[in-house]
Amino acid sequence: MTSKQIRQKYLNFFKKQGHVIIPSASLIPENDPSSLFTSSGMQPLVPYLTGETHPEGARLTNSQKSFRSGDIEEVGDNRHNTFFEMLGNWSLGDYFKKEQLRWLFEFLIKEIKLDPKRIYATVYSGNKEIGVEQDNESVEIWQELFKEAGIEAMDYDNVEKAGMRDGRIFYYGDERNWWSRSGEPANMPIGEIGGPDSEVFYDLGADLKRHENSKWKNEPCHVNCDCGRFIEIGNSVFIQYIKTKSGFEQLKQKNVDFGGGLERITMVSQKKDNVFETDLFENILEKIKELSGNKNYRDHTRAFEVIADHLKGACFLMGDDKGIAPSNVDQGYIIRRLIRRAVRFGRKLGINNIGWTKEVAEIVISDYEYIYGELKRNKEFILSEMEKEEKKFQKTLEKGEKMIKDEIIDGESAFNLFQTYGYPIEMTIEIAQERNIKLSDDFYKEYNEALKKHQELSRTASAGKFKGGLADSGEETTKLHTAAHLLLESLRRVLGGHVCQRGSNITAERLRFDFNHGEKLSDQEKHKVEDMVNEQINKKLDVTVREMSLEEAKKQGATGVFESKYGEKVKVYTIGKGEDAFSMEICGGPHVKNIGNLGKFKIKKEKSSSAGVRRIKAVLEFC
Ligand code: SER
Repeated sequence: MTSKQIRQKYLNFFKKQGHVIIPSASLIPENDPSSLFTSSGMQPLVPYLTGETHPEGARLTNSQKSFRSGDIEEVGDNRHNTFFEMLGNWSLGDYFKKEQLRWLFEFLIKEIKLDPKRIYATVYSGNKEIGVEQDNESVEIWQELFKEAGIEAMDYDNVEKAGMRDGRIFYYGDERNWWSRSGEPANMPIGEIGGPDSEVFYDLGADLKRHENSKWKNEPCHVNCDCGRFIEIGNSVFIQYIKTKSGFEQLKQKNVDFGGGLERITMVSQKKDNVFETDLFENILEKIKELSGNKNYRDHTRAFEVIADHLKGACFLMGDDKGIAPSNVDQGYIIRRLIRRAVRFGRKLGINNIGWTKEVAEIVISDYEYIYGELKRNKEFILSEMEKEEKKFQKTLEKGEKMIKDEIIDGESAFNLFQTYGYPIEMTIEIAQERNIKLSDDFYKEYNEALKKHQELSRTASAGKFKGGLADSGEETTKLHTAAHLLLESLRRVLGGHVCQRGSNITAERLRFDFNHGEKLSDQEKHKVEDMVNEQINKKLDVTVREMSLEEAKKQGATGVFESKYGEKVKVYTIGKGEDAFSMEICGGPHVKNIGNLGKFKIKKEKSSSAGVRRIKAVLEFC
């Protein structure tokens, strides 16, 4: 079966069970500040999992484009990709465990004909502290299903230490069998949803001997041990909890969120043991072979796989209608990293001809345009940005490589390499590792300091250039900066928790604030927001700042940008104290110490800034 057939079979199968096939959402999330990319099918559906009605009903299915930047360095291990397609089906408060596990099993063994003897399941072992029990219901359902397939399915605990003992169903805790966008229960910020999950694994076979050669060789092998023998091919999450200040509460509805990687399902169905050996990569690898002067994939697996994965990822990210190009920030930085890393691995294969990445991109587009039409629409953009980025880097590649030569490298040098030669820091670290070069003890700190110094210098330069040095404007700007925190929190309380900051620009005269929200604000909403901000100002609340780890900040429910780059600690500004605390936000500052003399907050304008993003202009008037 081809990947195209598998995708279609899955969608049709769930359509038969009353699901509506919905299109893939954009890879660049609209309303989700917690991540740069759509990394799972449930992300765009969060409002509906929490109770809003979906226009297409309570049963949905799709193939969602997904991107996980955290897996960049995992590529090459037989099962990870940065870009992948996630086959998904959802019950929005409709069916639950019984239907979900049965349909999934049926799809796997009847529709795509996997051998049930190679299938294993895992379930949540429970956590008393958060009041969630062991998932015995799923165990019973799985046992029944396996029995129908002629298999007696024993369930076992403690598998990490005791091994699999001929079992079929295994219990794991928070780390493995709980799912939320931010991982296990303890890491979830307040307001986040999640729940226990049940994963399905496929046994690639003991004869692969991956375990014997792996770093886990002295530990018992089990489905989740990461040795590569067992591969997770799907995850049914039972999203039924929301984290609140006082603990975990049941959501209004019990949901199912299933996701399974198309690449992996195709891989096991095509009886391969590496995602790159499926038809989803065939043409791309063939092109790389040609470009490399007929080098063999088997002899250079890692380089072939990194190039294939990264250029495909870059194509899809740039092919999204949002028009994001390589840059030094946010999503653009990841695209830059992908292309540059591919170029570096290309050089290892001896591919030096300028413009080669574009040729790979053309293959990606022609392979996928039949399902993702945006690639076709944005073809010119993808190809020209790819070419520009490659050229820019090719020019400095060699010089940069030569700079990484000492026994030890410090953070300041890594920053200079980025500034001068465009070496993303991760790439510098990777090259250092390849060459056995150590990182200095304070590597990240040094890097951050150099970055900060650079930013301050450029800020001073531009302030001097454009404003002729408005030294005494500092205080007014600071006031407006604090007002922006009050504004964000008020918007969240008036319009809803989906509101997140999308950018701001503050001068001594006014603040400009972008945030995500689908509609124009009514006059009433604007007044409510203004009143709420002014009410806080009248309370003369103190502003305090604390430093803490990003994890801790999230745990305490701070808003703000969670994708902090380097450095463990973040600053959290709180307006008000204890019960009276109004806002808590991750921010670099500076802020006023007390908001009592901010003046009167007034919204001057509210308009659209881009799709799904609104812009407010506001001032502080003095009474
Ligand atoms: N959201 C879950 C996951 O990403 C299942 O779709 O694994």
